[in-house]
Amino acid sequence: MTTPATGREPGPTGSGADGATGGEHAELLGIALAAAHQAGVLLRDGRPADLEVAATKTSPIDVVTEMDIAAEKLITSHIGRLRPADGFLGEEGASSPGSSGLRWVIDPLDGTVNYLYGLPSWAVSIAVERDGQTLVGVVEAPMRGETYHAVLGHGAFVNGRRAHCRRATDLAQSLVGTGFGYLAERRAGQAEVVRAIVPRVRDIRRGGAAAIDLCDVGCGRLDAYYERGLNAWDLAAGALFAREAGALTGGRPGEPASGELVVAAPPGLFEPLQELLDDLGAWHD
Ligand code: IPD
Ligand code: CA
Ligand code: CA
Repeated sequence: MTTPATGREPGPTGSGADGATGGEHAELLGIALAAAHQAGVLLRDGRPADLEVAATKTSPIDVVTEMDIAAEKLITSHIGRLRPADGFLGEEGASSPGSSGLRWVIDPLDGTVNYLYGLPSWAVSIAVERDGQTLVGVVEAPMRGETYHAVLGHGAFVNGRRAHCRRATDLAQSLVGTGFGYLAERRAGQAEVVRAIVPRVRDIRRGGAAAIDLCDVGCGRLDAYYERGLNAWDLAAGALFAREAGALTGGRPGEPASGELVVAAPPGLFEPLQELLDDLGAWHD
């Protein structure tokens, strides 16, 4: 996903300040924006007052709502109609290799627990990748009234305005976002890491939606973000947004971002944070 040396994806040069892109990427972006918007409207307007738990995943805390599943169906049908040869990987079960070499990576509802409780930080996340390289990412956050999009080599945009991450600051002055997995054993280890980090940074935020956390790095609303245990659908779109906004993303030193560890921060802050997380063992349970 990223080149180990720089944490950046290789890609075409040049950027359009208005977010305009050419050719296939523009088509993919248009489809992703439309699908994310429709799913966002479905989730926002269709949220029942008493959300039913449709199923449980790894633990009772990990709630899969009927709305999650409905949103993923809407997204895959929309994309499938327009791009019948593309593959899918969706959190709620969409999985097909396709034949075009392109794969859509979808979290129909990131921030499920926020959604369940009526907190506003939740989003639809849609990315398109080829050979593991993310080409396009869209994160739609209806309750924020914001759409984040990025195209490889063409910048990151929030509601059409160019987004930039913050300039690197000292770790001690940094506002750092993070998150916790759903499994109790993993959370205990993650709490130990946070315990060691809190005295060394300005403060910690736990927003509850990884895709939004990554976009917040790209918008300069967080200095940095890290988390262990993310899946491809949590991070694909948001990590592209953060990179296109000037941040580096990665995992352990020299490694790309993965389920083991995701770190996102501007160059200059990224390296010391990554090193600290590595020393603290943030990459293992
Ligand atoms: C979760 C959120 C949360 C993060 C978890 C994810 P979900 O995704 O992104 O912020 O801490 O690791 O699993 O279950 O709400 O789609
Ligand atoms: Ca998620
Ligand atoms: Ca989800």
